[in-house]
Amino acid sequence: MAEDLTRRTLLGVAGAAVVAGAASEAALAAESKEAPKGGPIKIVGLSCSPRKGKTTAAALKVCLDAAKAVGPNVEVELIELAGMNIGVFDPGDPTAGAGEFKKVAAAIADPRVAGIIIGTPVYMGNMSSLCKAFIDRCITLRKDNFALANKVAGVVAVGGMRNGGQELTIQTVQAALMAHEMILVGDGRPTAHRGATLWNSANDDISGDELGLATAKNLGRRVAEVALRVAAATK
Ligand SMILES: Cc1cc2nc3c(=O)[nH]c(=O)nc-3n(C[C@H](O)[C@H](O)[C@H](O)COP(=O)(O)O)c2cc1C
Repeated sequence: MAEDLTRRTLLGVAGAAVVAGAASEAALAAESKEAPKGGPIKIVGLSCSPRKGKTTAAALKVCLDAAKAVGPNVEVELIELAGMNIGVFDPGDPTAGAGEFKKVAAAIADPRVAGIIIGTPVYMGNMSSLCKAFIDRCITLRKDNFALANKVAGVVAVGGMRNGGQELTIQTVQAALMAHEMILVGDGRPTAHRGATLWNSANDDISGDELGLATAKNLGRRVAEVALRVAAATK
């Protein structure tokens, strides 16, 4: 009897969840057609590879294409830090070695930017030093009234090994983004884990990494979907 009740309760909950899921998908479809108050939202992909146009940028393009495909109210932009001369942050002399940091900081802090996808290659099991330098410098945005707060954030890591440290790299970047009150998301269903984990499996080519490409698409879609919801809720 108790077993039967438990089973029935569980089935009821599962049924309600299916109905709620369908309702929220319908709501999302409507949201993606309806223009948010401030016009279309923007999702920025930020490549923290010192190599322009290589695998990290390629992975971010996959994310951004998936984000754009969510609906007509989603615009995307790829920014590559390669060649911008962004050096180690010295709090005693914050502008020293800043390179083009200020320009990029202004671009991501723009209120129209509702989502940011940070991409980094895996270097020695963690983010690139360029990524860390950029993230450290972002403390100025935190001091500027939390300029990144409530923007949706996702992370992409590309390694030369299938399991070369992508997950730890993602989590380390996420830890920094939490300090900005950003809204962190992982790759959406069906993969649904920490973020996009890609493998540079053949001489600067990610096109053979089917699983990694799926996580990149699911991350891009998820960032855009949640960003649209946040924009709709703050109308
Ligand atoms: C200094 C250095 C350290 C690296 N360490 C790792 C590592 O720990 N794990 C891994 O999977 N790949 C590692 N790689 C490989 C890169 O992550 C991989 O080639 C990546 O695709 C490079 O990104 P990019 O094409 O955007 O430059 C390393 C590469 C370099 C240059």
